[in-house]
Amino acid sequence: MIPLCVAEIKGNEWKYIEECLNNNAVGGIGSFVDRFEKDFKKFVGANRGVVTPNGTSALHLALRVLGIKEGDEVIVPSLTYIATVNPIKYVGAEPVFVDVCRDTFSMDVKKVEELITPRTKAIMPVHLYGHPVDMDSLMELASKYNLYVIEDATEGLGSLYKGNSIGSIGHMGCFSFNANKLMTTGGGGMLVTNDVELGKKAKFLSTQARVFHENNGFSYTDIGYNFRLPNINASMGCAQLENLDEFILKKREHRKYYDEFLKDVNGITLPVEKEWAKNVFWLYSIVVEDDFRMSRDELIKAFSENDIETRPFFEPVHEMIPYKNCRHGDLTVTEELGKRGINLPSSVGLKKEEIEKVCEIIIG
Ligand SMILES: Cc1ncc(COP(=O)(O)O)c(C=O)c1O
Repeated sequence: MIPLCVAEIKGNEWKYIEECLNNNAVGGIGSFVDRFEKDFKKFVGANRGVVTPNGTSALHLALRVLGIKEGDEVIVPSLTYIATVNPIKYVGAEPVFVDVCRDTFSMDVKKVEELITPRTKAIMPVHLYGHPVDMDSLMELASKYNLYVIEDATEGLGSLYKGNSIGSIGHMGCFSFNANKLMTTGGGGMLVTNDVELGKKAKFLSTQARVFHENNGFSYTDIGYNFRLPNINASMGCAQLENLDEFILKKREHRKYYDEFLKDVNGITLPVEKEWAKNVFWLYSIVVEDDFRMSRDELIKAFSENDIETRPFFEPVHEMIPYKNCRHGDLTVTEELGKRGINLPSSVGLKKEEIEKVCEIIIG
């Protein structure tokens, strides 16, 4: 079986986890938590990192920290994982769906401005499957209308926009370390920001908004969350970070092999890398066009008959029951990609022979 995308565990994970167990340092406070926040924010070039139990809670926390609330609107792509959008509802705000680009699969910034109203408070770009959103244009628009930008960078760790790590460009960036991401802590997430005050507020709200007293007691000055990441998970994150550069190189090498095998196949559109971007190709993703010899779902079936796990692109969120009545712009590209896209096996540990086997099914 060739899986879609599984973790690569090959470094100090065992050692650091053992250290936590031996020292009885397995809870939400510990030296690996501090070290993971420090090492990660350094890796992405941000001023502050705040760990969370998963990427969903990092997004939720970002919205809370920025004061997004009932009556506000947040512009977000519909072609994304549901966890980008649910946190908007958690804080009582409304998502407004924008289309994506046909080639990068990520937010089409040109279609954002027409959706802005006086209720709009934030924009959430998603660097889908790894390709960065055009952040300069987006930040310019956000500053024109005084809006916050929260990057859903969960799928783009390792990608760069004009040399800068995605997640570090907007007011806040959110990452996920679940088991299919580029690096994993089993489950985990991180919010990063360059704003010192926002970073402090994020840590405060993520740890129950707790204020310590001299007698070691505490009280609470806001409604916070238990969004801590256990030290034991953070220790795994520290170990994974040590190999992250190598993981990124591997993903980009897979892309090269896939491209080589598939470049002449009729009816298949390959993923791109814009001249201003470095794409980590978290999931190498193709689009099945009308002139391919079978439909997208027939191709997925052919893969599974050959023990190859693939996945159709996300079903657009605006088509899901809880979001059917939300405001949106033209979503033609989103709807088309949702029907035509396939994510191919992309684990860091994937071998060239396995990529060849996957491509043989496509070539026929
Ligand atoms: C685009 C996107 N947003 C948010 C998330 C949420 O991350 P998590 O599963 O860690 O909550 C994920 C990953 O699952 C994702 O792919």
